[in-house]
Amino acid sequence: MHRHVLLLAALALGFATAEAAAPVQTSGTWHTLDGKPPLVIAHRGASGYRPEHTLASYTLAIEMGADYIEPDLVATRDGHLIARHEPLLDDTTDVKSRPQFAARRTTRMLDGKSVTGFFASDFTLAEIKQLRAVQANPARSKEHDGRYEIPTFDEILDLRERESAKRGRTIGVYPETKHPSFHLDLELPLEERLLDALRKHKLDRADGPVFIQSFESANLQYLHTKTKLPLVQLLDDGALLYDAAGKRVIAVKIPQYGDKRGGTPPQSLEDVAKYANAIGPWKRQIMRDIGAQQLLQTTLIEQAHAAGLRVHTYTFRTEPATLAPEYRNDPLLEYRQFYALGIDGVFSDFPDVALSARK
Ligand code: G3P
Ligand code: CA
Repeated sequence: MHRHVLLLAALALGFATAEAAAPVQTSGTWHTLDGKPPLVIAHRGASGYRPEHTLASYTLAIEMGADYIEPDLVATRDGHLIARHEPLLDDTTDVKSRPQFAARRTTRMLDGKSVTGFFASDFTLAEIKQLRAVQANPARSKEHDGRYEIPTFDEILDLRERESAKRGRTIGVYPETKHPSFHLDLELPLEERLLDALRKHKLDRADGPVFIQSFESANLQYLHTKTKLPLVQLLDDGALLYDAAGKRVIAVKIPQYGDKRGGTPPQSLEDVAKYANAIGPWKRQIMRDIGAQQLLQTTLIEQAHAAGLRVHTYTFRTEPATLAPEYRNDPLLEYRQFYALGIDGVFSDFPDVALSARK
């Protein structure tokens, strides 16, 4: 989007609560860290339209023009990386309706909590391939349930390569290591498997179209010693502490789950910048919900940029129930606000909408 259109969009929004007026564009360029347009990252594929983390979902995202496709990764019992948001298969597959696997239901400790269900790490890849993906979000269509296999990371990288060649553009891949400490405890560490797959596809290089993300810090610090690829420290709700005004970040607190590799928990954005190239905050850590139907603009993006960190924020959705009141049921207003703020990338379930707002 051109500078003055962004400015108008910002003004039209009133930037909600006057707080947001400061960073509108003034120089004719994007206010991203590198001055390029913000990345559109297809969150779990085009997961607003297809069951998440399926080749169909990634393919649709690519057809729509997404810059990156995002697989979350967990490990099978025989050590294959597959795309699932959780180690559990219960909500996103038809495992519960497969009598041959009924006895696999079990209870494990996951990030300090007792969790019961069907864990991918109790299934071989051959068994996983007997399952089919289903729509987990009750607000979305189930018309594609039962059609698609659970893909391996390798299959996703094949798809990326094939589609990049076919379309004459480089499609990026944005893998997330899910619950790395949990997998390490199971002796199914994710990191070497991830790097092996990327190497097989000639993607483990400094300029590879890849970002590796994690909510944990110890595995990112480990990866920092093993690869030149850019790393992204995800931030969940509670990972940032703010000043009394609620705007300026004064500390970082990443949950620690006893990763045997140790590492040094970061205390600040500057600490994060020692091993990561970007942060991945929740969008409500940038525009904070302060009640009374108001959002408060923080200085997180400026602070991260000052520390040399890009900011890729999650997750943008289109359904009205997911939008804050100030966006008046129009998802474009939300994207345009974040683009005007200088966001470097957005994770979206609806990459077509994110791209349309970027024009
Ligand atoms: O990885 C960015 C975003 O996907 C984080 O949220 O829970 O959807 O993986 P989640
Ligand atoms: Ca993710």
